[in-house]
Amino acid sequence: MKKFKKNIPFGYPLIDKKERNEINNVLNGHIYAHGPRTKKFEEEFCKYTKAPHSISVSSCTAGMHLVYKNLNISNGDEVIVPAQTHVATAHAVEHAGAKPVFVDCDPKTGNIDPNKIEKKITKKTKAITIVHFLGLPVDFVKIKKIAKKFNLKIIEDCALSLGAKVNDIHTGLLGDAGVFSFYPVKHITTGEGGMIITKNRNLAGKLKISRALGVDKTFNERKIPGMYDAKILGYNYRMSEFQAALGIHQIKKIKLFLKKRKENFTFLFNRLNKINSIRILPGKYNNCKGSYYCLSIILNKKIKNKRKLIIKYLNKKGIGTSIYYPQPVPRMSYYKKKYTYKKKNFLNSEEISDNSICLPVGPHISLKDCKYIFDNLNFILKSI
Ligand SMILES: Cc1ncc(COP(=O)(O)O)c(C=O)c1O
Repeated sequence: MKKFKKNIPFGYPLIDKKERNEINNVLNGHIYAHGPRTKKFEEEFCKYTKAPHSISVSSCTAGMHLVYKNLNISNGDEVIVPAQTHVATAHAVEHAGAKPVFVDCDPKTGNIDPNKIEKKITKKTKAITIVHFLGLPVDFVKIKKIAKKFNLKIIEDCALSLGAKVNDIHTGLLGDAGVFSFYPVKHITTGEGGMIITKNRNLAGKLKISRALGVDKTFNERKIPGMYDAKILGYNYRMSEFQAALGIHQIKKIKLFLKKRKENFTFLFNRLNKINSIRILPGKYNNCKGSYYCLSIILNKKIKNKRKLIIKYLNKKGIGTSIYYPQPVPRMSYYKKKYTYKKKNFLNSEEISDNSICLPVGPHISLKDCKYIFDNLNFILKSI
């Protein structure tokens, strides 16, 4: 009998028949951009997150860039950014012309350490950008206090936190604006894509105009076809109708996806938590609800040099893994060269980047898969 080889990808988009048909419907029509589906997706996103305003964009990175531009954050300004994040968080600040000022993380959560923010604030600081690391909400009370004290804007990078809440408020609505990602391994996908949410009507209006080249009339508002004016220097950061067609259906499945993520995370957490040679970043705390993006194990000192071996073993067994994130961003070549890097300031971020392995918990895997992951990880951790 042929032996079945396990294949558990780290992330895998779940696209059903309805979604495939919807893409075909777009193809069979003639409206591929500027159409009703992007609007509908924005409405559905508002419904789910209870955001007063949702603005679809081509990616989370583009969305964050757009937010900085519309908050007038630019040359000569500084933005506080966590060191333990995706490079996109810092790139968006750089693209706006501002300087990302990196802050180390809290080792217990991987989130920016609020106690280290104040000493990085200067006269040039305009905003604090927070990232809900792996879907675990940042301690927002402390961040808000600092922002109020220094009159700073708060931008939330919600790439991994769709569905995460603080006191029943969705991430993205805690600060001035929040931006989500719909890259294929995320909680929901549109291939590439992003969504900005905000409570600020004025900002929402500006974001809508500047994501579409700054023209004064959208395609559907033009009384005479082809007639418009450009009032500002905008971008083409629009989402297409194909992407929105997926988004409309994906967002309807988010509660189910989150339930499965939590179930998988909890299964693995409860078993792995008993192993002494690793620690696990939590999926929730106090009044927060996490979105369980993945489960990150951190190898202790004795076995940290065995990370490659463990990853190779798991991958050979068909278990997909990843690393979030592969380096503290200030240690990445572009930033190191531009701003220099002081290791002693980022020891907690280094611990996570250099010693962690991320395991899948997405809705594409079953509890049986989780047991397989646990058994194999447990075996290799005991054998090394
Ligand atoms: C925290 C964070 N921010 C931003 C991004 C970039 O998102 P996008 O690819 O939609 O621009 C990612 C991608 O994984 C991310 O993890």
